[in-house]
Amino acid sequence: MTKAICPGSFDPVTNGHLDVFARAAALFDEVTVAVLINSTKAGLFTVEKRMEMIREATAAYPNIKVDSFHGLLADYCKAEGVGAIVKGLRAVSDFDYELQMSQMNSQLGVETFFVATNPEYSFLSSSLIKEVAKYDGDVSQMVPANVNEALKAHFSGNLPA
Ligand code: PNS
Repeated sequence: MTKAICPGSFDPVTNGHLDVFARAAALFDEVTVAVLINSTKAGLFTVEKRMEMIREATAAYPNIKVDSFHGLLADYCKAEGVGAIVKGLRAVSDFDYELQMSQMNSQLGVETFFVATNPEYSFLSSSLIKEVAKYDGDVSQMVPANVNEALKAHFSGNLPA
């Protein structure tokens, strides 16, 4: 069985991430979407909420499962028998950091495969989504419906003066 992992913060998951998950799920028997538990950086959504939103948004894919991890990604992969990290590359600006991480993870025993992001989503990032949603901008075409609702609920009545 071929197992892949799509790791990230996913705070929150976007349609760009979902596109990468779906494409990985078409190529590997099992894909784990793994949310990083980062004790030094509080996110907008809790790790549990992020996982719940990803689970709902990927419900149509029986070979996608959702988990969280802390510590080294390579250690998680070894413990779970995952042989491939799959990540989306949006633009050249992603490349340096992603190349460095993939080379380090390769040294640690896990290979990375990159997919070029669908151009429809290449401008998307979780940070920009949060910024636009914070000021009541419309992100409904950029995130799954459950994330859109969660963002609205979070920011309603919470705009800065
Ligand atoms: O969505 P992000 O924040 O860009 O995801 C980054 C992530 C989670 C893939 C990366 O920070 C990671 O793998 N962290 C786990 C710690 C680790 O393995 N560090 C060494 C990377 S070479």
